[in-house]
Amino acid sequence: MTELATLRYSGKNYELPVVVGTQNEAAVDISKLRSQSGLITLDNGYGNTGSCSSSITYVDGEKGVLKYRGYLIEVLATKSTFVETAYLLIFGDLPTTSQLAEFRKLLMQHEFIHEDMRHHFDGFPPNAPPMAILSAMMNAVGCFEPVFMQADDDEYFMEPAARLMSKIRTIAAASYRKSLGKPLIYPRSKLRYVENFLHMLFSKPYEPYEADEAVVQALDKLLILHADHEQNCSTSTVRMVASSQANLYASVAAGVCALWGPLHGGANVAVIDMLSELVESGQKLDKFVERVKNRDEGVRLMGFGHRVYKNFDPRAKIIKESCHRLLDKLGIEDPLLDIAMQLEEVALKDPYFIERKLYPNVDYYSGIIMRALGIPTDMFTVIFAIGRLPGWIAHWREVHTNDSGRIDRPRQIYVGHTAREYLPIEDRG
Ligand code: CMC
Repeated sequence: MTELATLRYSGKNYELPVVVGTQNEAAVDISKLRSQSGLITLDNGYGNTGSCSSSITYVDGEKGVLKYRGYLIEVLATKSTFVETAYLLIFGDLPTTSQLAEFRKLLMQHEFIHEDMRHHFDGFPPNAPPMAILSAMMNAVGCFEPVFMQADDDEYFMEPAARLMSKIRTIAAASYRKSLGKPLIYPRSKLRYVENFLHMLFSKPYEPYEADEAVVQALDKLLILHADHEQNCSTSTVRMVASSQANLYASVAAGVCALWGPLHGGANVAVIDMLSELVESGQKLDKFVERVKNRDEGVRLMGFGHRVYKNFDPRAKIIKESCHRLLDKLGIEDPLLDIAMQLEEVALKDPYFIERKLYPNVDYYSGIIMRALGIPTDMFTVIFAIGRLPGWIAHWREVHTNDSGRIDRPRQIYVGHTAREYLPIEDRG
């Protein structure tokens, strides 16, 4: 039987059903609240708002648990591949051998972008941020592809999903090459997903890039760790755009824009900027931490804190280990890693961070891994976007197959002027 929560307001009781998820998370269903009581809820930043029911990803922020479709992230990061994990997110189950082979074949078939699309890159100024190019191109790619999608048919949907996952990699590499004024490199079908991306980033027209297996594995794992994170800012954006029945390309392009900000995916760049400045300036770490605590303008400990994780971010744990392993394997000594570890130690002992439950998040060490892989800083958030794409696709699909099919349209509490008299311009002083 459904449990009820009671809200008492203005002398009246309102009974609100409590919805319980498969992991026993409970929510008060307020969908009838306004029609019954005239009230809405107010929740700045949506910290207490469940915007949907979803069966894709589960996060327990208190215990530091992350699961995709019921599989622990630690298991997927060790045993799976990015392509397999993407399939899992989008289609709900791990693929069989033949399903995976089919998905890989489609990824290979769709790796080229339309020849006319190559000219779009010429319209951007030199040094255009790759995230700007990526968002524009994700929308543009929809003009060259069929936009009708039968979201509720697994077999049919495999092609558009693979098409977009394949194209984002080609577009991302091309936007990087464009930002350096270098010629675009065509994909090579026989390479695996990540290898092919590295090839398009780093090969020269006269000399193919041979990727070290440690590099391929590290990047593959990084993509798995970024593949979904339930209702984060960019995914909520994708879902909101999708709720207007917008097509997959438009919805994902909006997600790229949301991801760009330094409080979200752009944090991996901000972390490297912060660590580089600390190394270059030689500033004492406790002094820096004091500036963070004093809230000196624009100073935050980037890569720390999370809306949901209040104990630790399981992705950060895996990334930190992976970072050490990779740097050891490649024989790289990065002063940013040393300073990152020292800063983490200082912060984790400090009451400011302890009281607010601020721990390293996924972005704290990921930039150091990407530097070791030879990926330039302004591509970090693009890599995050490639990783997050399967999640966005899965959420777009969930919205499009949801029976309720309602457009997302929050309410507000208006706090502006009530009534003003219009003055002609000559009377305004
Ligand atoms: N440095 C210093 N103080 C912080 C930080 C930080 N990184 N993060 C949160 N706080 C403080 C904040 O000032 C507030 O203090 P008080 O209660 O005294 O006002 C308290 O901790 C709670 O923070 P909040 O701003 O209410 O937390 P939020 O849930 O709104 O924001 C966050 C979460 C991730 C945006 C924030 O922690 C932050 O800005 N972190 C740095 C940027 C970052 O690393 N972002 C990547 C997030 S993980 C991956 C992703 O989403 O892309």
